[in-house]
Amino acid sequence: MDAKEMIWERHSVRDFLPTPIPAEIIQEILEAGHLAPSTQNRQPWRYLVFTENAKIQKLALHCGLIGLSNFFIRQAPCLIIACADLKDNIKINGKDYYLVDTAISFHQMLLYARSYGIESCWLAAFSEKKLKAYLKIPENWKIVAMAPLGYPKEKKGLYTKAVSNFANSSERKPLESVVRFM
Ligand SMILES: Cc1cc2nc3c(=O)[nH]c(=O)nc-3n(C[C@H](O)[C@H](O)[C@H](O)COP(=O)(O)O)c2cc1C
Repeated sequence: MDAKEMIWERHSVRDFLPTPIPAEIIQEILEAGHLAPSTQNRQPWRYLVFTENAKIQKLALHCGLIGLSNFFIRQAPCLIIACADLKDNIKINGKDYYLVDTAISFHQMLLYARSYGIESCWLAAFSEKKLKAYLKIPENWKIVAMAPLGYPKEKKGLYTKAVSNFANSSERKPLESVVRFM
């Protein structure tokens, strides 16, 4: 897969086959994220990796009320929770950079996964408080996002269709409305 296909053909996938992802591929995906740039090379990201569907099904029940909107995660063969350790955060111009650093790393992983035909969906709808308690995540870590990963089902389910219609997922604002040449 070339870079153009990796980016132009990407879309959020919420329907997965139960097929497990081989451990060595998961390892490579994690390394792809770990190679990301970060502010002063602080590497604040920390990853919790689930590779057993039974554990993902249990996790789906501990994401809080808002997390129920992402109940589709229970089908996934793999799920990664991207956290950041605030001791490796850096503030510049009053801005915390752990979110930027972790997002770059996580998205690098998710894009790289596509080269193996593995798709994913960024998720922010979860209760950080409930998940932190369930997973005993250290106090000074933040949960930035999570993503189920897996080989896509051929057909989108009803729920996926509803969510992507709701979010107008295939639409992008006109490029000229978000870019200003200087
Ligand atoms: C930070 C972030 C959080 C998101 N949270 C959710 C979520 O909780 N549930 C969900 O179904 N999709 C979620 N999405 C996916 C977006 O809805 C999706 O990326 C957007 O509609 C564009 O569609 P596309 O990814 O198919 O191009 C999230 C995406 C991002 C980047």
